[in-house]
Amino acid sequence: MDLHLKNQVAMVVGGAGTIGHAIANSFAGEGCQVCLFDNHPSTVALADSLPSTAMGIRGDVTHYEAVKQGFDQCLETWNRIDHVIYTAGVGSGKFGFPFWNLEPSDWPRVWDINMMGAVHVAHAFARHAIQNNSGTITFLTSVAGQIGSQTDPPYSAAKAALINFMQCVAKDLAPYQVRANALSPGMVQSDLNRSVWQAGQELLPEEKRQSYEDWAEAKIKHVSPLGKWQNPASFGSMATFLASEHAQHITGQVLNIDGGQVMHA
Ligand SMILES: NC(=O)c1ccc[n+]([C@@H]2O[C@H](COP(=O)([O-])OP(=O)(O)OC[C@H]3O[C@@H](n4cnc5c(N)ncnc54)[C@H](O)[C@@H]3O)[C@@H](O)[C@H]2O)c1
Repeated sequence: MDLHLKNQVAMVVGGAGTIGHAIANSFAGEGCQVCLFDNHPSTVALADSLPSTAMGIRGDVTHYEAVKQGFDQCLETWNRIDHVIYTAGVGSGKFGFPFWNLEPSDWPRVWDINMMGAVHVAHAFARHAIQNNSGTITFLTSVAGQIGSQTDPPYSAAKAALINFMQCVAKDLAPYQVRANALSPGMVQSDLNRSVWQAGQELLPEEKRQSYEDWAEAKIKHVSPLGKWQNPASFGSMATFLASEHAQHITGQVLNIDGGQVMHA
């Protein structure tokens, strides 16, 4: 299927991460210019490795000024930003069950990155997209945001809030033919997923601890009907499809790419 995205510009926020980089790769494969925005030291090198014209900008999503500067830099270079994909995210790094295992002070950083970062990016993109009367913005949420996951309450609550915010964005931008959606992974091998395993293991006695591989295999079989890891490239395929004209009627939706973990009527 030709997605007709050639020569458009995609900005992938959190683009140095596992899923973000796979999404960037898919947009690059469609012939887009791609900007990676991430605070990871490898951001610029990862942009250089993409198979299209790309740039990497190191910046922190929790600083609105840095986000705006990132958008300005991308616009100065290519004069347009057509698609934004917000993939930056972190967990608390602690095992959150029951919720009082965590301190209230464990919440703000998780919210700042998963939720407020997305707000900063939406604000930075909206004015530009409205002027153009076109564009898409796609947020990475999580199954955790739909099921009250007890593993990491600040994370699941932030992802739930992100879904709600995405719906507001979709409604507010719809009159300008700008679409907003969310992709919801279940389990993808990444630093973030590994941190969930690590946090749980630290609370277990030595004899009950499991390797990451054993833990993940058991968990996937338990939670996912298809019983396998989601591969990062699946998110690239769906993100590029959502950015394309083939998805012109799709806005305000959460697309679960989770092996069937969450099913709604
Ligand atoms: N991996 C999974 O199983 C899984 C499951 C559900 C949801 N998700 C969501 O998918 C998205 C991508 O996750 P991933 O698995 O690729 O994780 P990842 O850890 O590989 O990538 C996250 C990226 O976010 C960047 N980031 C973090 N804080 C930042 C900040 N303050 N400013 C700029 N960049 C920042 C990191 O540097 C990293 O590159 C996240 O939103 C995550 O919550 C992942």
